[in-house]
Amino acid sequence: MASRKIPKHIAIIMDGNGRWAKERGLARREGHRKGAESVRACVERCALLGVEFLTLYAFSSENWKRPKSEVAALMKLLEAFLKQKTPELMEQNVRLQAIGRITQLPASCQRVLHHSIERTSVNTGLTLILALSYGGREEIVDGVRSIVRTVQEGHIDPAMITPDVFSKHLYTRYYPDPDLLIRTSGEMRLSNFLLWQISYAELYITEKFWPDFREDDLEAAVNDYSRRQRRFGGL
Ligand code: IPE
Ligand code: IPE
Ligand code: MG
Repeated sequence: MASRKIPKHIAIIMDGNGRWAKERGLARREGHRKGAESVRACVERCALLGVEFLTLYAFSSENWKRPKSEVAALMKLLEAFLKQKTPELMEQNVRLQAIGRITQLPASCQRVLHHSIERTSVNTGLTLILALSYGGREEIVDGVRSIVRTVQEGHIDPAMITPDVFSKHLYTRYYPDPDLLIRTSGEMRLSNFLLWQISYAELYITEKFWPDFREDDLEAAVNDYSRRQRRFGGL
């Protein structure tokens, strides 16, 4: 498949960890732990394929509603993942970034995250963006606050606000919009993920639970994307 179209930016809603664990009579956190291996597999394959940006929905603004014990397990896992994977990201030339209300994360998580972002900032390959304490509506509201400030300071006239201008006030201002959005575990919804940015993304939903989603599944999604005809409203 030499002429295959490779998406520049893939975004993934990594869903189904809990159901994966339940099916096996395991605790939900075991599903999250296994899911971390799928992250490793997808990062590696995206880097190999020449994908430039990979955004992973790891923790939503709404996920704070979960039982304290599950939130704590997820935060611990995130911290351990970052500590353990940073040397690998260095080897793979992967640059780490994060979007979301990062200051809501536990202080120790923020420290490790910032350290990893800083350390990998010199890398020039795949950009891996973790969406943490992320909500699409919250991002738009934060963007509105930011643009209102620039109006109040007299830097921009409201008449000059276009979609492109507004995009520069979102967390994702440094990245192109996703070309392909993948959701695992079969749910047909966006769950507050990148609401603004995915207006023209190609959607790919698979029944597989996230811990079962590996290299071949990513390849299948890219192959499917490659056959899509994108018109952006034109002909
Ligand atoms: C996705 O798996 C991981 C997070 C949302 C943090 P879930 O934990 O949502 O698993 P299911 O959807 O309950 O199976
Ligand atoms: C979306 O999954 C959030 C993440 C994958 C981080 P959820 O499991 O939280 O979404 P809903 O509740 O099924 O919509
Ligand atoms: Mg879920």
